[in-house]
Amino acid sequence: MLMDFTGKDILNGFQFSNKELNAIMETASYYEMRVKRGEIIRDLEGLVVASLFFEPSTRTRLSFEAAINRLGARLVSMAEVANSSVAKGESLEDTIRTVDGYCDCIVMRHPVSGSAIRAAEVAEHPVINGGDGSSQHPTQALLDVYTIRKEKGHIGGQTITFLGDLKYGRTVHSLGYLMQQLRNKMIFASPNSLKMPDEITKELKSRGAEIEETDDIKYALSQSDIVYVTRVQRERFPSIEEYEKCKGSYILNHELLRYAKPSITIMHPLPRVDEIATEIDTYEGSAYFRQASNGMYLRMALLGLVTGRTR
Ligand code: NCD
Repeated sequence: MLMDFTGKDILNGFQFSNKELNAIMETASYYEMRVKRGEIIRDLEGLVVASLFFEPSTRTRLSFEAAINRLGARLVSMAEVANSSVAKGESLEDTIRTVDGYCDCIVMRHPVSGSAIRAAEVAEHPVINGGDGSSQHPTQALLDVYTIRKEKGHIGGQTITFLGDLKYGRTVHSLGYLMQQLRNKMIFASPNSLKMPDEITKELKSRGAEIEETDDIKYALSQSDIVYVTRVQRERFPSIEEYEKCKGSYILNHELLRYAKPSITIMHPLPRVDEIATEIDTYEGSAYFRQASNGMYLRMALLGLVTGRTR
């Protein structure tokens, strides 16, 4: 029916063709419909999925685990590094080889950039990257695309501002590629010290992306159909002093929203610290909690596709 994703790893935001993106979105809508009508789904019955989180997570881990449960698969999980042999000094490769022998698919998050690729190299089963260091977070970017399609009715030809920590924020690193691919204009609005890494901006431009960089948030908002806010990634700073210099440097509130188009959609991968004032939460364009809910359907789609159970 769709495309054959069986056995594929999900590692970054630039690995998908447009046809594949479409298939993933259609599959996510299909699962959303089935869940919402109260169906008991058994598409992954008999399979075991491992969830390995070497770094804190709420939404990514729980939405994956909910997805695994809702698909009728069984879950083995490691949410606490302290309770695993990683604490004894085991290498990532050895942990992955071992877990790969127990399960049919591995979902992982790790603080080191490039770790998902390393895992995929040693695992025979598909590896889904739930975030590797400051590098990539493809499942978040896919659920962001799914959210834009739902909120706006379509995707493409829009202007999206990425506001915040574009240096260490892995979600915008993945989403930048998808926005370029889907022909959305991007405005990068960040404090100077948290700018999008040059190599990503250059790569996006070489792929034909239309990008503007600014530190003028009001201007960026006035131009945008969507604003995608990110948290300052405290844990990735070389020192706490460096973090202190940047924290609180942008806060989206009612006052700033006056400069935005009335139809603006506000997104955030969450967790939020203080970069979106809670007074904005009731604004109809505030999509961040709907965005988080979409994550489960999108992850159901990915699990179904890479295990070959959804076709
Ligand atoms: C993001 C992450 O882990 O990169 N969170 C998420 O998965 N929704 C964003 C963040 O931590 O700021």
